[in-house]
Amino acid sequence: MESDAHTALAQLEWQIDLGATEAIADSPVDRYAVPDRIETPKPKSVPAPALSTSSKDPIGDARAAAENAADLAGLQEALAAYEHCDLKRGARNLVFADGHAIARIMIIGEAPGRDEDQQGKPFVGRAGQLLDKMLAAIDMDRHAQAAENAVYITNILPWRPPQNRDPTPEEIAMMRPFMQRHVDLVNPDLLVLMGNISCDAGLGRRGITRLRGTWAEAYGKPALPMFHPAYLLRNPAAKREAWADLLELKARLGSSA
Ligand code: URA
Repeated sequence: MESDAHTALAQLEWQIDLGATEAIADSPVDRYAVPDRIETPKPKSVPAPALSTSSKDPIGDARAAAENAADLAGLQEALAAYEHCDLKRGARNLVFADGHAIARIMIIGEAPGRDEDQQGKPFVGRAGQLLDKMLAAIDMDRHAQAAENAVYITNILPWRPPQNRDPTPEEIAMMRPFMQRHVDLVNPDLLVLMGNISCDAGLGRRGITRLRGTWAEAYGKPALPMFHPAYLLRNPAAKREAWADLLELKARLGSSA
């Protein structure tokens, strides 16, 4: 019973997130005055809904679409046109990236949350505010225009999963070709993999507590796994390790200048 109530509440929150603001109409309906049968006008050529199963190869289609993208704008368009990922249908916005593509550091997060979905930008909620402070501590800034302190920020998933659930392995796999192309087009010197989902997509491994702070290779670039800022908000004691990782990132940037 209790779990039913939780499910009902979660569904209600999800509808509110999607923009449902009213459960009832403004004015009462006189049911006695409503005819038994209402003739609904025939719809004028309504476009068929895009089917997520139009081809049986979501990953192959993702690869072809991503490889065809000549630049970042083209990649964003290719993602917007990609129909295999059902998350798209529940999201308000496609959250592509923020920051400057001239950046030497590219941060790869997990997925948009509620604030990101509303604003169409990655890392703008509480975790994003902490991320901005972390970056400021090493003189990096998503609004900077110069390569030495610019950062480019994106996520594995461009659409918010319902109730912020973890992405499925299939969703991660179909987004991977887009991320590979994204990294190729930005061509940063270094990547930061924020959290387990990002490590899973980039390295095929989870276990951020062990992975963090040790350089690996993802998408053909040196990549540093780090604690996700949302994790740091829940576990402030881990900020100590995050600080060490930020210093490591800054040092590596200096040594590969
Ligand atoms: N968490 C992420 O991983 N990405 C966002 O954009 C916001 C929160």
